[in-house]
Amino acid sequence: MDILRGERLSGPAPESAEFTGSVADDAPLIAPVVKINMAHMLMLEKNGYVKTSDAAACLKALKAIPKKFKMDANLEDVHMNIEAFVIDRAGGDAGGQLNLGKSRNDQVATAIRMVARDKILEIAKAMEEVSRVLITLGKKHANWVMPGYTHLQHAQPVTLGHHLLAHNDALQRNTKRLLQCYERVNACPMGAAALGSVVLTIDRDYVCNMLGFESLVENTIDAVSSRDFALETMSVLALAMADLSKLAEEIILWSSSEFSFAEVADEYASTSSIMPQKKNPVVAEMIRSRAAMAFGDLMAGLSLVKALPLSYNLDLQDLTPRLWDSCNNTLASLELMGKMLATMKFNKERLESSVETAVGAADLASYIAVKKGIPFRTAHRVVGALAKKSADSKEEFSKIVAKHLREASKRIAKKEVSLTKEEINALLIPSSNVNRKVAKGSPSPREIQKMIHARQEELSEMTSIVAKKKSALAKAETSLMLAVGKLEGGEK
Ligand code: ARG
Repeated sequence: MDILRGERLSGPAPESAEFTGSVADDAPLIAPVVKINMAHMLMLEKNGYVKTSDAAACLKALKAIPKKFKMDANLEDVHMNIEAFVIDRAGGDAGGQLNLGKSRNDQVATAIRMVARDKILEIAKAMEEVSRVLITLGKKHANWVMPGYTHLQHAQPVTLGHHLLAHNDALQRNTKRLLQCYERVNACPMGAAALGSVVLTIDRDYVCNMLGFESLVENTIDAVSSRDFALETMSVLALAMADLSKLAEEIILWSSSEFSFAEVADEYASTSSIMPQKKNPVVAEMIRSRAAMAFGDLMAGLSLVKALPLSYNLDLQDLTPRLWDSCNNTLASLELMGKMLATMKFNKERLESSVETAVGAADLASYIAVKKGIPFRTAHRVVGALAKKSADSKEEFSKIVAKHLREASKRIAKKEVSLTKEEINALLIPSSNVNRKVAKGSPSPREIQKMIHARQEELSEMTSIVAKKKSALAKAETSLMLAVGKLEGGEK
């Protein structure tokens, strides 16, 4: 007999059951739904709504649910499958009480949050691992000069360390965002029941604590209808994937013969089925593509909740697999990015020889402006004229400066400017250029060292936050299982 439809409805059309059910996507919810049922049953027994022996029978049945619980699609979803299992095991008198005082609506919102909080911590840990690799690489390559780009054109000299640390800063901000959103994910909807709670004296705080939540989603209508916790998580993941795709894109560009700045290890590359000379940075390409999937998940989720009336609507069921997809793609991308980066080789000679002296032009212009009392815009024009001369004649920029600065400044600035060879070199030789930078966060080795130090500190702070949250969840789980064991063993 169908435990839900009973005498109200005849059986569903098989295609309707398949179309509206969520069994295919519910596997991640099995473990949390079991725990929620346990906490809820403990509460019902504690508050005198279920006989101790019935509660014990239900808990025993819940404990017997295997990790790889096989679900029947005709039972719509994980919730009904678990309830049917308990009724079957514990008998109708005991098992029939399992859903007293709760609904699938509060239960599913709670279960999704429980999976999401675990995934957030796992992803945060993977982000930290990539940060660790980027910081190590930043340290190792702190002094390797290379061209910095704007518009993908050589712009100013930077160092490889500085560049990699820029990617790390974006990543660490995303880790922080994710941990901030954890707070809003880790709130408990249980007790809302369908939407308007129940007439029993239920103890929402007890269930909330037993399940390791930090707070309640208090308003019972909000508790079952809101999915902003999932959308916020997907937003942060979409941002993180956007940033990761930028790094992936650079790895792809840098692996090309035109750049030859870097080479990924064979383990993270593939070759062609026809062109045996090829080495393709396929892992980076897939990370770039997975960012698109993460955006798609977020867009699907936002579109799905847009203009939905309160409170629960079955549309919400379709949002859950988008969240899993976004978490799984982000996690896999991070794990592979960390491994690929850790085994990549950078080409010092190529990086250094790609920085021509002309990329010091901006600094030459500001030097002339300040030292020689010429407005910056005029100095910019003088240096621009020299850059054009260098481009047209193919003669190295620093040589052109040495030869033609006097003439160009006289003509354009109406003031004759000359610089010593030492002054020119200090500005235009890339390694001395970066050494001259004193501003906070600039590519000078001193600033890079300072940043490395600060980022390492921040990283260990974040690591300890993740560890604390993990251990709070583990502690809650231990006390839940302890309480279950006590009641079941007749010890209470
Ligand atoms: N399978 C549903 C989901 O994932 C559970 C809640 C169903 N609620 C309902 N009233 N039909 O959202």
